[in-house]
Amino acid sequence: VFTCCWSVKGGSGVSVVAAALALIASRDAPTALVDLCGDLPAVLGIPEPADPAPPVTITATLTLVPHGSDAAADAATVVVDAGCVDHVDSRRGMVAATAERSLLVVRPCYLALRRATRLGLRPHGIVVVAEPGRALRGDDIAAVVGAPVVAEVPFAAAISRAVDAGLLLARCPVALASALEVAR
Ligand SMILES: Nc1ncnc2c1ncn2[C@@H]1O[C@H](COP(=O)(O)OP(=O)(O)OP(=O)(O)O)[C@@H](O)[C@H]1O
Ligand SMILES: [Mg+2]
Repeated sequence: VFTCCWSVKGGSGVSVVAAALALIASRDAPTALVDLCGDLPAVLGIPEPADPAPPVTITATLTLVPHGSDAAADAATVVVDAGCVDHVDSRRGMVAATAERSLLVVRPCYLALRRATRLGLRPHGIVVVAEPGRALRGDDIAAVVGAPVVAEVPFAAAISRAVDAGLLLARCPVALASALEVAR
């Protein structure tokens, strides 16, 4: 399966979701995580690859294709971190448009939903990063975007702290892993 994770606003949580999805998938099958943005070494807590870098072995079943690498993602499961897409015809937009499974990562934010509808790129599914204090719910978001919510990831201090400490790979927070298990 070739999954592309993308957003319409910076800082939505795409890199965290893509890394966690790849980590979960790698328990079952060889998985390649493709970094189109450059944050994944820091998210995974691994040294910054040289430039241009060949694929990096993370675990026996998880490989990172670093940002700027022209290596093919050669694995049964591929997860792409396409970051923020601002035009359908941009490179990132084309990856999202052609993915077997295209996942929009979005906060329950009206401005983000407005951008998503204006972009004209309908995902197969939505991953909501559910910040507290927002009025929009999963079914509102699904109705506006026109795709099902496949996972609701809680906005949790345990997740941001794990990311800041580079521990997402070593100790993936239970709240993140269990929320994404359903969207694997
Ligand atoms: N579920 C979550 N709970 C708490 N904090 C989160 C969660 N997801 C992401 N974050 C935090 O939000 C910030 C942005 O996350 P991330 O880098 O994954 O977003 P992004 O969409 O990849 O950003 P960019 O557009 O810059 O690529 C980071 O500080 C991260 O730790
Ligand atoms: Mg990112």
